[in-house]
Amino acid sequence: MKCMLTHLGRWATPTLSRALHSGARSSSSVASRAKRDERQLTSEQIYSREEQHGAHNYHPLPVALQKGEGIYVWDVEGRRYFDFLSAYSAVNQGHCHPKIISALNAQASRLTLTSRAFYNDVLGDYEEYVTTLFGYDKVLPMNTGVEGGETACKLARKWAYSVKGVPRYEAKIIFAEGNFWGRTMAAISSSTDPSSYDGFGPFMPGFELVPYNDIPALEKALQDPKVAAFMVEPIQGEAGVVVPDEGYLTTVRELCTKHNVLFIADEVQTGLARTGRRLAVDHEAVRPDLVVLGKALSGGVYPVSAVLCDDEVMLTIKPGEHGSTYGGNPLACRVAIASLQVMEEEKLAENAEKMGQILRAELNKLPKEVVTMVRGRGLLNAIVIKETKDYDAWRVCLRLRDNGLLAKPTHGDIIRLAPPLIIKEDEVRECAEIIQRTILSF
Ligand SMILES: Cc1ncc(COP(=O)(O)O)c(C=O)c1O
Repeated sequence: MKCMLTHLGRWATPTLSRALHSGARSSSSVASRAKRDERQLTSEQIYSREEQHGAHNYHPLPVALQKGEGIYVWDVEGRRYFDFLSAYSAVNQGHCHPKIISALNAQASRLTLTSRAFYNDVLGDYEEYVTTLFGYDKVLPMNTGVEGGETACKLARKWAYSVKGVPRYEAKIIFAEGNFWGRTMAAISSSTDPSSYDGFGPFMPGFELVPYNDIPALEKALQDPKVAAFMVEPIQGEAGVVVPDEGYLTTVRELCTKHNVLFIADEVQTGLARTGRRLAVDHEAVRPDLVVLGKALSGGVYPVSAVLCDDEVMLTIKPGEHGSTYGGNPLACRVAIASLQVMEEEKLAENAEKMGQILRAELNKLPKEVVTMVRGRGLLNAIVIKETKDYDAWRVCLRLRDNGLLAKPTHGDIIRLAPPLIIKEDEVRECAEIIQRTILSF
């Protein structure tokens, strides 16, 4: 495990201080910029503008998108693509779902943000709806998925000190190797992926790791009375859609109960119908102590995340001890209610289950010399590409793009296939045909 995280002071980058000292841009450069924005840029111009002005912390597939509707996105040259990434499972309900956009628009012209310094007339409606739907006493609203994970870790530590009786500041949280829950200092401190943590230490203390899908290792770790929680993804998304053995989650539940340790399910990617159930833990009918939701909680229109748990855990945090300016704002709450209603009304979990089976059956027909493995649940799937000098996952994705389907490689040899959950059977078959044609062209 990596070493301790010490206090980080406030910072100012050279770029920031330059900006502060150089003052406003000249009016002629602002005018020429406005003129430039009026004309349509080509894809190439869009890539180079981002390259020049934006941080280089991503490596996007070269395609510049302008419009999205349902399962489709269009680039600036008007080419249409099937979206097989769904913004990393944030767009489960499909791009620009009319019901969600209409909720957004209606609330946007009424009241967007009050902060939690005051009550508003929407937050309670959302809290009641989401807790009833998932069967927990309370919800704590945040914005991004990683803030949901941070909140769950803070709740676990508070509970460890105030309920379990762990000596002050000695609580431990166990994570599974290969986990991904975001990019904050805490999240990268539990990461086993050097591209997440390398160069960013010192790291958060009190975090430990066990291999994923390894019950004996977990059982051993949980025997330590200082363990507050085990935080785990029911299927590891960013690790490449790693599905644990049947019964893993059931045993995790049993072990956490036996050792008085909180079971935190990170359902940011797997939750909200993606794997063919409302939550991925529903496949084994287990109830975690804390559930972290994000991404599709807003259908891809706005950052909304949440932690669900019961009073014994949630009420350990008192007024003023945690929060966020935007967390639980009226706009987010209306968007989240609409997104959850769409999930329920359009039976997205059932559709994901059925369409996933069809997709995997088709993908399993791909030549094993190229696609060495197909795995997944519902519509969270991945294929593993055997790398050769002629092709790898990146090149396969480029050719998929040329054939009208967008997917993104992960870890060099894995391609995640995760379309919006509103996709229909003929569309799944058409996409499977595109994938087959692309793979066979190598
Ligand atoms: C399982 C899981 N948890 C948390 C996160 C972090 O979410 P966000 O990027 O919204 O902070 C992700 C993002 O991919 C994720 O896959």
